[in-house]
Amino acid sequence: MVKAVIFDLDGVITDTAELHYQAWKNLANSIAIDFNREFNEELKGISRMDSLNKILQHGGVADQYTEEEKLELATKKNEEYKGLLIHLKPENIYPGIKEFLNALKQSNIKIGLASASKNGPAILDYLQITDYFDTIADPDSVINGKPAPDIFLKAAEQLGVSPQDCIGVEDSEAGIEAIQSANMYAVGVGTVEVMRKAGADLVLADTTELVWDQLQEAFTAKVN
Ligand code: BG6
Ligand code: MG
Repeated sequence: MVKAVIFDLDGVITDTAELHYQAWKNLANSIAIDFNREFNEELKGISRMDSLNKILQHGGVADQYTEEEKLELATKKNEEYKGLLIHLKPENIYPGIKEFLNALKQSNIKIGLASASKNGPAILDYLQITDYFDTIADPDSVINGKPAPDIFLKAAEQLGVSPQDCIGVEDSEAGIEAIQSANMYAVGVGTVEVMRKAGADLVLADTTELVWDQLQEAFTAKVN
């Protein structure tokens, strides 16, 4: 029986995945590394420092930077990203998300956030939806980032719900893997081919398809 829905944030609740893309592209280009959307898919769901390391490897320059220099680069990207975030408003919440959150509340389903982003709480505030969330798992409180299951398990633990009673919602390959390793039901939204390849239990083209009754039926059909 579904008792909780645990959300990823960037690219699921709002289009911050696009803002991450812009800020990383500018950072990569500033150090002469090519950056395109196909490569960007590999960064979705991955922590800030892991993303930077992947970018430097992609550019073949991973060994040319000290840890201190890497921290400077990551901070530079985050400053640009934070500058983009200040424009976020409730109107930027993806279509269907508010209706879905309201339906979950009405059915007494717990709501959690399992985002790798340290900017997660600020983004929920900009969007004015913090109060919907019963818990937010802190990415700093887990050792292993996505695709490891840790952050989804942390959110479930904080909610006091068993993983098998949770639905996880993600837009990234690493995130779908994390949900499945956590033994939760994985819903993938966004790039349909990526979500299919990642092996999501249910693939939705966009967030308007996040309809509580239908999701509950799909969950029950898999479990029974
Ligand atoms: C994830 C994003 O949600 O958070 C990644 O998909 C991002 O692209 C990661 O790198 C960390 O975010 P932040 O805001 O802490 O740099
Ligand atoms: Mg995401």
